[in-house]
Amino acid sequence: MEQVKKQKYTITKQDRGALKGHMPCLIWFTGLSGSGKSTIADLLERTLHKQGIHTYSLDGDNLRRGLNQDLKFTKADRFENLRRTAEVGKLFIDAGLVVIAAFITPYTKIRADIKTIVGEENYIEVFVNTPLEVCEQRDVKGLYKKARSGAIKNFTGISAPFETPVDPTIEIRTTEETPEAAVAKILTYLESRL
Ligand code: PPS
Repeated sequence: MEQVKKQKYTITKQDRGALKGHMPCLIWFTGLSGSGKSTIADLLERTLHKQGIHTYSLDGDNLRRGLNQDLKFTKADRFENLRRTAEVGKLFIDAGLVVIAAFITPYTKIRADIKTIVGEENYIEVFVNTPLEVCEQRDVKGLYKKARSGAIKNFTGISAPFETPVDPTIEIRTTEETPEAAVAKILTYLESRL
């Protein structure tokens, strides 16, 4: 934007990170509704918190009740939902935090956009790979049933697409790994970079 110039801050992300003793990043969970994103994200946050790491969680359901309450589930609205969330994530990274985000994030293009917004060096993509049949069988919130009956439109996996992530940083198969094992896997990766 021509008439708005970027203001430079004296204190940088590195300065804030150094104060906390760990470098910030964003761990972005993607996967179908009911795949287990929020469960693993929550356990990860609890584990990191216990280790004295300053975290913050962004969750699809929660942001859609506030900041993104004007948005629905069309492709355009999902893009805007995730763009805003990525911008919020960028601010928290800049504040020096380890940010955990759990959103369906169904399109390859928006995942690439998120990576660009937050910076490639800060972005860790975790694909919670649970087959649709399993998510539908679990149907924790009863949404798949409603989607099948047509009561909910544009439902991911039923009447809206989920493009399989091609190159996630970490892949979790919840049919083979417990949430504890998934968190251990993520921690091993984080230890090599935090
Ligand atoms: S997206 O696609 O990334 O913008 O979606 P997200 O913000 O993560 O929101 C997903 C949660 O919204 C509920 N919900 C739906 N999901 C998918 N499609 C439709 N049409 C829909 N309507 C409501 C659902 O509870 C999702 O939560 P999770 O935790 O993924 O099950």
